[in-house]
Amino acid sequence: MITFDKTQGCFQLEGDGFTYLLGVSPNGDLHHLHWGKPLSTAALKKLLGEWKKRAVETEHHVSREFQRREFPDFGHNDLRTPAFQLEHADGYRISEFLYDSFQILPGKPDFGPGPSSRAEEADQAQTLKIILKDKLHKLELDLYYTLYPQRNILVRRTILRNRGSRALSILKLASASLDLPPAPWRLVRFPGRWAKERQMKEAALQEGTLRLESRRGISSHEMNPFALVTPGEADEERGEVYGFALATSGNWLIEAELFRDQTLRINAGLNDFNFKWSLAPGKAFVSPECVMAYSASGFSGLSFNLHRFVRERVVGGFWQSRPRPMLLNNWEATYFKFNHDKLLQIARAGKEAGLELFVLDDGWFGRRDDDTTSLGDWFVDKRKLPKGLRGLSDDIHGLGLKFGLWIEPEMVSPKSLLYQKHPDWCLHAPGRRRRMARSQLVLDMSRPEVRDYLFGTIGKALEEARVDYVKWDMNRSLSEVGNEILTPNRQGELYFRYLMGVYDLMARLNQRFPKVLFEGCSGGGARFDLGVLHYHPQIWTSDNTDGLDRIFIQYATSFAYPPLVMGAHISSVPNHITHRSMSLKWRALVAMSGNFGVEADITKWKPSERKELADYIRLYKEIRPIIQFGDFYRLENPHHSNRASWIFVSPDQKEALLFMFQVTPPRKGEKQTGIKLKGLKANQTYEIKELGLKASGRKLMEDGWLPKSFKHPKGSYHCELFHFKANN
Ligand code: DGJ
Repeated sequence: MITFDKTQGCFQLEGDGFTYLLGVSPNGDLHHLHWGKPLSTAALKKLLGEWKKRAVETEHHVSREFQRREFPDFGHNDLRTPAFQLEHADGYRISEFLYDSFQILPGKPDFGPGPSSRAEEADQAQTLKIILKDKLHKLELDLYYTLYPQRNILVRRTILRNRGSRALSILKLASASLDLPPAPWRLVRFPGRWAKERQMKEAALQEGTLRLESRRGISSHEMNPFALVTPGEADEERGEVYGFALATSGNWLIEAELFRDQTLRINAGLNDFNFKWSLAPGKAFVSPECVMAYSASGFSGLSFNLHRFVRERVVGGFWQSRPRPMLLNNWEATYFKFNHDKLLQIARAGKEAGLELFVLDDGWFGRRDDDTTSLGDWFVDKRKLPKGLRGLSDDIHGLGLKFGLWIEPEMVSPKSLLYQKHPDWCLHAPGRRRRMARSQLVLDMSRPEVRDYLFGTIGKALEEARVDYVKWDMNRSLSEVGNEILTPNRQGELYFRYLMGVYDLMARLNQRFPKVLFEGCSGGGARFDLGVLHYHPQIWTSDNTDGLDRIFIQYATSFAYPPLVMGAHISSVPNHITHRSMSLKWRALVAMSGNFGVEADITKWKPSERKELADYIRLYKEIRPIIQFGDFYRLENPHHSNRASWIFVSPDQKEALLFMFQVTPPRKGEKQTGIKLKGLKANQTYEIKELGLKASGRKLMEDGWLPKSFKHPKGSYHCELFHFKANN
């Protein structure tokens, strides 16, 4: 529910578990008054009384730095980090945007191209639009707040409109910005690198400005565009938690500025690094979205809501609520070395094991025998596949499997027909060397003719091969980000134009192939974000398929993203990256904790291993609805405990799947503690018949449970899956 109290000059946005309060000061500044637990009438009155006093004083005597502001402009006496910065036609960078008017809209407006969380029915969401104006330059700033009350989520974005007669430059424009009250603020971030994405790190903030960001043109391995802040210590159950997830897949920025008075300013949106956008008269610039989530009950509460939000409002289309097929991918099985018969042999073994989809990864096109050639030449390599893609696809379909294909649309190899024909189609600057990574250059996705070519050639391949699934890869950061067509004053627009071009191609291919399941990928998980999830309903989590490393990666990824969207595959041992050998059971339970698949030449496995694999596949098929569409709770943190464990609960709470992994061996004499389950119905009795276990949900959640096999685990890497069922 969104309301405006005219006498107080304040906006109130009420989620089921939070209140967000904004005030318009007497001179028209927008102030942030509260985001947190719902306020009683008395508390609200007190808060407004104090604010009124402060707001008047500030205007007459003291600096705006004494105010907690909402979307602060630049150029006055608040010298904290601004939410946006403009360069006007006269060269001045001073802006003054004051409150003008507001609208309360049902549902969510259409913001045009680019990712956008959905609200199909007007009662699913409500949107507040606050209009600020800079009268001197005739500029308008529209701040949008879409409230998803049941999920305790606010989705924000900003539109800057030039209603004046001269062009200006946008140097920075956040999607969301607010000042949180004084507290011993802590921040959780998700940094990483290739094969080690999203490692959770938590620390107290110190005075100064912390920039979490990507400058790589992709959301990056190095830092995920998601962060949490907590006003003091928080854990899975306790403490207030504020989450910020950006629905953008390029250069992003989350700034956290802890000020001298311990207030915390958060700005989140596009990165201002190397950004400059020229806004002509009559034009508007629309920022990407920032999804802001609140929980008064620790990390669990926040993830619970974010997971449902991602599944229901971010992921869309045909696959939104359909069980995802269990796939077999040939990458780790063959790399570039395969032919029709070899693929068919692997696929046949996959079918026998119970898998449902065969994915042909990199190497099927041009003359691609290694990673130095052919990107851009999306034509089948008849040396490897003499019957063509269609011949292979027919044979795969003939086995009763679906057929999937790997592509990397945004790239071109200098050794390719495409590059010979169009050397100017890659990102480049005249006179500058074109730096390669993985022997490839990046196509300039801002150019419509490049996108048309890709749409045409890739579309044709997908159509001819009757493809059911596509893995969209992207294997390098952007460099030499230049474009000879853009005018000199527009070079700073290229990162964002590139990204919008990528989204455009994704949207066009989704539209042309509405039933094809797309999986995002970027050298593993370098583009794991809400922007990609708008187009691709699942993402490859990491190239690292090592069972132990994956525990940490999937654990941290689950803070924002539901297991449904996390590609998780069993591969052969020793692992191709870590050379470690985890048991098949361990690898299977890790893969079952996400969107399950296999990535191995299982024709080389022993018959006993293939049988064991088939058993896991059968089991996953049974439990798939709970894993993919149930609720997920982390129970034990592998960073702080010698176990990792988590639980999936069916939407009707009648079944629960407890996964436990002994990540480090217990020390001698160390007492193993029980584990408190979550998400069950307190007054329901649950059983595990094979173990003779019967207990109420309350007992399992309050007293906890220690499975016998974990009392004295043998060996280091003991793991189990326990299936609880309600007994009526
Ligand atoms: C990177 C991906 O993450 C891998 O799964 C694989 O598709 C390779 N690229 C292929 O080049």
